[in-house]
Amino acid sequence: MTARARITGIGRYLPPKVVTNDDLAARIDTSDEWITQRTGIKERRWVEHPTTTSDLALEASTEALESAGVGPGDLDMVVLATLSPDHEFPGTACFLQAKLDVPAGVPAMDVRQQCTGFVYASSVADQFLRTGFARRILVVGAEVHSKGLDVSDEGRDVSVLFGDGAGAVVMEATEVADPSADPHLLSTHLHADGRGAEDLWLPAPGMAYDRFMSHDQVSAGDVYPKMNGRSVYVNAVKRMSEAVVETLEANAAPIEAVDLFVFHQANLRINEAVSERLGIPPEKVFNTIDRFANTTAATIPIGLYEAVQQGALQPGMLVAVAAFGSGFTWGSMLLRW
Ligand code: COA
Repeated sequence: MTARARITGIGRYLPPKVVTNDDLAARIDTSDEWITQRTGIKERRWVEHPTTTSDLALEASTEALESAGVGPGDLDMVVLATLSPDHEFPGTACFLQAKLDVPAGVPAMDVRQQCTGFVYASSVADQFLRTGFARRILVVGAEVHSKGLDVSDEGRDVSVLFGDGAGAVVMEATEVADPSADPHLLSTHLHADGRGAEDLWLPAPGMAYDRFMSHDQVSAGDVYPKMNGRSVYVNAVKRMSEAVVETLEANAAPIEAVDLFVFHQANLRINEAVSERLGIPPEKVFNTIDRFANTTAATIPIGLYEAVQQGALQPGMLVAVAAFGSGFTWGSMLLRW
């Protein structure tokens, strides 16, 4: 029997500071009504300095390890997805490794796939577990957006959308005797199309320029994320719908067989459009965007965690996950929980 991946522990961490739409409206030209109608977001969590991405990852990872009943010394690998690293290099997985006290020598890698980061990271872990390279992997999605947003009238189209947070799972190799009952990751599906790269990106700093970072870039606001909202919206609905269909077809599972859909949380309207397109009843779609906004690589593990806490996700259920984000990147996976 070939080894498969199974989630044995899950954790999440949201920083305590709540930022409501009204809080933002007091600072910039926006309103609770506009944000709620267009996105479904009511509030988000933002860190306070000196909290970093690896700090959020540490909290979520500690809880995930506890819930799996293992310690940092039991890990064979750390895979961390983020678009908001502590530093340009080395990767945030290395900072997490040191803070979590994962033994020296254990490999730690970053995945830079933005809102699809956790699906990519899970797929990476799945491959290593299937081949026997590793037996137990910590997979993390963590983001600190708030320190890098343009919280001014000019940046309002982007800054209202994002929150800070982290989620983590422990994935272990497992033998699956009965695929319809034994918990495991059935399949993962990954895609990208770099033609959309500049529709959602952070132009600077970067080695594409004469100098990595210049005062002119700071003055011009190139150090803030830029987005073509319409293009992101249209592509997200199309690609996430395709990705859901792909994972169902790969496993010969009818859409009715799925008990819960945990989608990336970019915009409630995107998830409603995907559900409508595929004929998914709204009660099967688990959303957290109203409370936590878009936490990029962290939305999926936070969603799974919250679904478990609220009793919406129970052992034995079939869960479909899909995400879309900057790159463009998109992907899906199907899990027997
Ligand atoms: N508050 C108030 N008004 C705002 C605003 C804000 N925070 N942000 C933008 N606006 C204004 C714009 O200035 C524009 O005004 P104008 O018509 O006078 O020029 C108007 O709202 C934009 O309206 P519209 O283009 O109709 O908005 P929309 O329905 O396309 O919604 C988004 C905008 C950003 C919510 C939507 O495009 C979206 O969700 N896109 C995907 C974004 C996303 O998910 N990103 C992350 C992907 S992982």
